[in-house]
Amino acid sequence: MTTTTEAGTSMACRLVALKKDYVLKGETVRALRGISLEVPQGDYVAIMGASGSGKSTLLNLLGCLDKPTSGSYYLGNLDVARLNDQQLSMIRASRIGFVFQSYNLIPQLTVVENIEVPLYYQGRVNRQTRRRCHSLAAMVGLADRLGHRPTQLSGGQQQRVAIARSLVNDPYFILADEATGNLDSKTTAEILALFDRLNQEGRTIIMVTHEDEVASHAKRVVRLRDGLMISDERSPREPDRPSPFGQSAGSCSPWIF
Ligand SMILES: Nc1ncnc2c1ncn2[C@@H]1O[C@H](COP(=O)(O)OP(=O)(O)O)[C@@H](O)[C@H]1O
Ligand SMILES: [Mg+2]
Repeated sequence: MTTTTEAGTSMACRLVALKKDYVLKGETVRALRGISLEVPQGDYVAIMGASGSGKSTLLNLLGCLDKPTSGSYYLGNLDVARLNDQQLSMIRASRIGFVFQSYNLIPQLTVVENIEVPLYYQGRVNRQTRRRCHSLAAMVGLADRLGHRPTQLSGGQQQRVAIARSLVNDPYFILADEATGNLDSKTTAEILALFDRLNQEGRTIIMVTHEDEVASHAKRVVRLRDGLMISDERSPREPDRPSPFGQSAGSCSPWIF
């Protein structure tokens, strides 16, 4: 499922000279002007840059929501540019974990049912996957809220449901778009601690943020300006922050069927 380089590192994804133009009323906007980036499995990348620098465009391409104008995008072993729209939406639904600023939960569904949604779309709901959704809910600290609906949860709890949902498909990576943008500072810290823990457990995370404090949790900060990557810096010291959920929740490895 993954690309292995000669050095033996598995890549979650790889971008080569990726470009994206938008044509609007006869004018071409060069939103991405050649981005090359390798994201090894287990990496934790923050994408930063001023408004208009191309962050959302890059996120849309990474999430298979759009196709590049030129260049290559490899997701594991797949060359995304060669996929048709149906294949793209299949990959999007089955192998990418999205976490949005606005949670995007379904109000009528319970915590467990919301976590189950990506499986439901693939017709993969059964007793075993239901158990897995329970484990994921427990892993994000919501074991005692399984039957609650989104309106009965705080913002931080809703985002934890969204994070659990993002993991249900064993994704190549979690793609987080300003995931803490709607949360107060204490809840932001809890959600970031959860991302830290998921990354420590081997999950690959790519997040867009405009906040330095949020980006400081990542192992690597990629900065965009005018559609180009102007820096790609690894943190000298990897974050080592305590989990708000203690040690036990991490030991259940719920993504192993
Ligand atoms: N659908 C679109 N059609 C035309 N231009 C677009 C479209 N989406 C984004 N752009 C332009 O592409 C550039 C990058 O936008 P975007 O990726 O949204 O930047 P960011 O998320 O960093 O603010 C901007 O100049 C923006 O106006
Ligand atoms: Mg944007």
